[in-house]
Amino acid sequence: MIGIFDSGVGGMTVARAIEQLCPGFPLVYLGDIARTPYGSKSPAIITEYSHRNTEFLLKQGAKLIVIACNSAASTASTFLQSHYSQSIIDVIAPAVAKAAMVSSNGRIGVIGTRATINSGLYEQRLQASLPGCRVYSQACPLLVPLVEEGWLERRETKMIVKKYLHPLRDKQIDTLILGCTHYPLLKSMIAPRIGRRVHIIDSSVEVALHLKKILETDDLLRTTLYAPDTPSRFFVSDIPAPVHALASKIFGRTVLLEKTDV
Ligand code: DGL
Repeated sequence: MIGIFDSGVGGMTVARAIEQLCPGFPLVYLGDIARTPYGSKSPAIITEYSHRNTEFLLKQGAKLIVIACNSAASTASTFLQSHYSQSIIDVIAPAVAKAAMVSSNGRIGVIGTRATINSGLYEQRLQASLPGCRVYSQACPLLVPLVEEGWLERRETKMIVKKYLHPLRDKQIDTLILGCTHYPLLKSMIAPRIGRRVHIIDSSVEVALHLKKILETDDLLRTTLYAPDTPSRFFVSDIPAPVHALASKIFGRTVLLEKTDV
């Protein structure tokens, strides 16, 4: 199984993209809703939670781990990749590779939680992929709760999106990375406010494309993970009422959420 973890339900945007691009590869998903949000927590605690989540998924039979949460990826991927022999991929590397490929003026914006932006990992990796590029980062801490409230079309959300994007607007960026699991749900609100000519990179789609490529080229991994008759499972560490609506919104169908302790 392909193990995917996130701090909550937002990482289902990644699970959904993987499900669409890699049919026949069952997923085991863990959303650590009991401890969400990660984006406002310290690096030490995010790393500890990420470690526990990885252990849980490996125990469920995951043979490859996708860190869907940008806050966890930016804080804990280096630790997890050095600690485990299994393949561990994160949402950041594929988004960075895509941004470096599509940006023609080398001016790239990144939006994410405070933990993601403060880690500086997007910036470091962008500099490594596209030396000399200019990276403009903006933490947008209010967007996660607004998405979780289902305020996807509200006037108040539009005003807050506009305010967060304002500092990036005069930087002549030609590419913007959505560095948070929740932001793909606001893409249609973000696009006109950052400018129609700016490429918007959705890290959930990029990680799914990256995984698809790995599965096409790595015969051993593909044969190990391909199990079209095995159903995917979706675990969460708490099930507050609004979670079902958000999960259904992301998947476009009802998903069975199983409660577990991590
Ligand atoms: N999943 C987190 C991320 O992508 C957003 C929610 C949180 O702060 O836990 O950064």
